[in-house]
Amino acid sequence: MIRSRQHRWNPPTLLGKRIQLRPLNDDDFSSWSEVRLRNAEWLLRWEPLRPAYAPDPAVERSAFVNRCRARERETAADQAYPFGIFIDGAFAGEINLNNVARGALQSGTLGYWIDQAQAGHAYMSEAVVVMLDFAFDRLDLHRIEICIVPRNSNSKRVVEKIGLRFEGTAERYLQIAGVWEDHLRYAITSEEWTERADSLLNEWVRDEPINDPSPSPSS
Ligand SMILES: CC(C)(COP(=O)(O)OP(=O)(O)OC[C@H]1O[C@@H](n2cnc3c(N)ncnc32)[C@H](O)[C@@H]1OP(=O)(O)O)[C@@H](O)C(=O)NCCC(=O)NCCS
Repeated sequence: MIRSRQHRWNPPTLLGKRIQLRPLNDDDFSSWSEVRLRNAEWLLRWEPLRPAYAPDPAVERSAFVNRCRARERETAADQAYPFGIFIDGAFAGEINLNNVARGALQSGTLGYWIDQAQAGHAYMSEAVVVMLDFAFDRLDLHRIEICIVPRNSNSKRVVEKIGLRFEGTAERYLQIAGVWEDHLRYAITSEEWTERADSLLNEWVRDEPINDPSPSPSS
């Protein structure tokens, strides 16, 4: 069933077992800038090239503030739901639900990155499961997709750890570091989420696993 909802609300803080997700605001500039500048080599080879005329939001506070406002407008328009990732209260990366499409598609794409100093703890698989719960349960989307450059073995591990379905390769799909790169497309639909949600949430999100959420015959 396709439901419609009013989306003009502030996204809540979302929790995994070890991480917190919340939209970035102006006060995050110094920590965001510090992490981005320290990780430039780690990150920029996997991201679209910033146009030469655009100021660098990691360097110019006004550009970061404009980025926050632009992202808030996208959320208000039900186009994107971007979140900062926080570990023990400290900023550590981002996970963004982008390209939200309604109508017959009811879809969105997830993009993500983490501070290299925090890499290797499967924080991103946890963040993806938190976002899947948000996308299917709160936004009523039908399909979430993650697209990965074939040589990005670290990102492939993120989707492998939570068992997303591989759909095939899209040729010259996205511009990454100035090159039209092929991408591996992984997806999950709400039907698959319904089947797998309890097991994924028990593993990655809930402090206390729920063994059998179905009501007992006497209830
Ligand atoms: C892809 C990325 C988000 C993975 O996040 P993560 O939370 O570190 O994920 P994992 O802990 O599951 O690690 C995935 C793999 O990275 C590798 N890895 C772990 N720690 C690492 C480190 N410090 N440096 C380099 N690679 C590391 C390991 O091969 C690991 O696989 P394994 O757990 O089977 O050994 C992260 O590597 C990253 O931000 N990369 C740069 C940006 C990027 O590629 N974004 C995704 C674009 S699609």
